[in-house]
Amino acid sequence: MDVKVKKVGVLGCGLMGSGIAQVAAQAGYPTTVVEVSKEALEAGLKRIDRFLAGGVAKGKVTPQDKEATQSRIAGSVDLAAVAECDLVIEAVVEDLAVKRETLARVGTSLRPEAILASNTSSLSITEMASATRRPGRFVGLHFFNPVPLMKLVEVVHTIHTEPGVADAVTGFARSLGKTPIRTSDRTGFIVNRLLVPYLLDAIRALEEGVGSITDIDHGMKLGCGHPMGPLTLNDLVGLDTTLYIADIMYQEFRERRFAPPPLMKRMVLAGFLGRKSGRGFYDYGSEPPRPNDFLVSR
Ligand code: CAA
Ligand code: NAD
Repeated sequence: MDVKVKKVGVLGCGLMGSGIAQVAAQAGYPTTVVEVSKEALEAGLKRIDRFLAGGVAKGKVTPQDKEATQSRIAGSVDLAAVAECDLVIEAVVEDLAVKRETLARVGTSLRPEAILASNTSSLSITEMASATRRPGRFVGLHFFNPVPLMKLVEVVHTIHTEPGVADAVTGFARSLGKTPIRTSDRTGFIVNRLLVPYLLDAIRALEEGVGSITDIDHGMKLGCGHPMGPLTLNDLVGLDTTLYIADIMYQEFRERRFAPPPLMKRMVLAGFLGRKSGRGFYDYGSEPPRPNDFLVSR
């Protein structure tokens, strides 16, 4: 069953869903994005507007492209809105129960040849596949944050994946200007297997007093040439999302390097989620963001 991707659906319009919807629409695909509430949908569409406006201000996007991109994006709070899509990419919260429920519901309205994909960071694609009743046409399509700027997409196939499906989504990723890499269905795939222990270790280093927030970040930026320090990156990803990921990876591997540090749990409980909530390791109410040095002592 060959399918040519003409229409794209995206479930969830948070940090990742909004970015995925944006790049699909920028590449010319009519794109429908679904959220749980009008408020969440509006917030996601605003994020797209802000990013494109930033692109116009930087001379990277023309005002015409901004308008054309936004005209290709339709928003809905009804899952049935993606029924006509050839490829639907799920980017809802990193919670297996929520994902399985969403995938089961959306799967019933799609055409048999349509492909369903998940942007999960760490959950098993095989485990989700069984909820879809179309395991052969279900793959992982893992984008990176911020989606419009990061070139990589991990394409994850399972023992169920039908011939042609991984190739179709690989071609789709290329059509967005991304570089796809293939990985098998092991939690964390390639990148998070290596990145997540590093992000967690940076928090442990802070907890243990190895360095301040600024010094840990400067250390990795200036000493290793990383584009941003690990605590800034934790704030970019979202501490709630990294906590979900760490819990899932720890369950899988039972190794300390994947265990979420206590400070991270306390921060999530207190709503210090990073950039998206306005504060995390840094406070984003000021420019440049101010490090929250009090975090460790309390
Ligand atoms: N529209 C279009 N282009 C834009 C733009 C916009 N709104 N904003 C920025 N850009 C362009 C800039 O013009 C610039 O282009 P050039 O290189 O051609 O000059 C480029 O994007 C970089 O922008 P900036 O110079 O403003 O920003 P920067 O140099 O500080 O880079 C960054 C920003 C790309 C985010 C960089 O800091 C980075 O790579 N950080 C690391 C991000 C990372 O590791 N992401 C992965 C997270 S983990 C994950 O995603 C997986 C998971 O499952 C959790
Ligand atoms: P987020 O919290 O920013 O957004 C999740 C969105 O999903 C929210 O807006 C929420 O309202 C919505 N949602 C929840 N249930 C839904 C449903 N049933 N239908 C439609 N929308 C629903 O999270 P995020 O950072 O965008 O992460 C989304 C997914 O992408 C997760 O699986 C995460 O692991 C993965 N991911 C995240 C990053 C990152 O850096 N944050 C990078 C790569 C992959």
